[in-house]
Amino acid sequence: MNRPRCAPGLAALAVASSFLCFLSPPGAESAGVFTIINRCKTTIWPAATPGDSFGGGGFALRPGQSAVFKAPAGGWSGRIWGRTGCSFDASGNGTCATGSCGTSLRCGASGATPVSLAEFTLASDRDFYDVSLVDGFNLPVTVRPVNGRGGNCSAAGCDGDLRQTCPPELAVRAGDAVVACRSACDVFDTDQYCCRGKFGSQPTCPPTPYSKRFKDACPTAYSYAYDDASSLFTCSGADYIITFCASSRYAR
Ligand SMILES: *[C@@H]1O[C@H](CO)[C@@H](O)[C@H](O)[C@H]1NC(C)=O
Ligand SMILES: *[C@@H]1O[C@H](CO)[C@@H](O)[C@H](O)[C@H]1NC(C)=O
Repeated sequence: MNRPRCAPGLAALAVASSFLCFLSPPGAESAGVFTIINRCKTTIWPAATPGDSFGGGGFALRPGQSAVFKAPAGGWSGRIWGRTGCSFDASGNGTCATGSCGTSLRCGASGATPVSLAEFTLASDRDFYDVSLVDGFNLPVTVRPVNGRGGNCSAAGCDGDLRQTCPPELAVRAGDAVVACRSACDVFDTDQYCCRGKFGSQPTCPPTPYSKRFKDACPTAYSYAYDDASSLFTCSGADYIITFCASSRYAR
């Protein structure tokens, strides 16, 4: 049987499927391989910007599916997020309940907030990565580096689902369901919640009861602008596994 070759280290994943191997690029043993996994109970539409190396910036991922991409060799600085409740026509035109970038399946720019963001700055010496809820929350997402070294190379993001614990004044609803949770900065637009003016530095912008709610759900994600110490990670030579709804406890 003529099996497709899988990237070393990725083939052992329980989720590895012919789909994963099919998308696995040649020479994938070098760093910067991104595996995006959907463990949610519904289809999601991941998006990336700049997205040339990531399925053109957007694609559908059914429950249990994964997709593999290789970041550009010269480094990449960008963000990856998930869109929910989308409906696209055959030409990739449509709308989403959360995270949409205009009407396109393939995102050429950042999407609508609130959205949970996985952020990356990849460079030859070391990478920086984080999960940010500064612009709100729409899906649980974790970033896990594999095969990396140096820095703190550990998982960022969250296991919890803020849609279930969102304070009512921050909730975005579609019918009866809470589909996303806005940030307090977005809702109240005050200097304190947005870390502006006299709150515009790390010592003068401490956590608030709202940002603490976000931190409880996602202890290793940015819950507000100056949350670096527990939210920003570095690693060298890593591949990354980005999982939406990692904990099936919360997946829906
Ligand atoms: C895309 O869909 C929107 C409605 O969702 C519609 O208004 C628009 O005309 C469509 N654009 C194209 C290029 O088909
Ligand atoms: C990871 O390391 C960086 C650089 O030393 C540090 O600033 C950051 O606080 C560390 N992150 C965590 C979550 O410990």
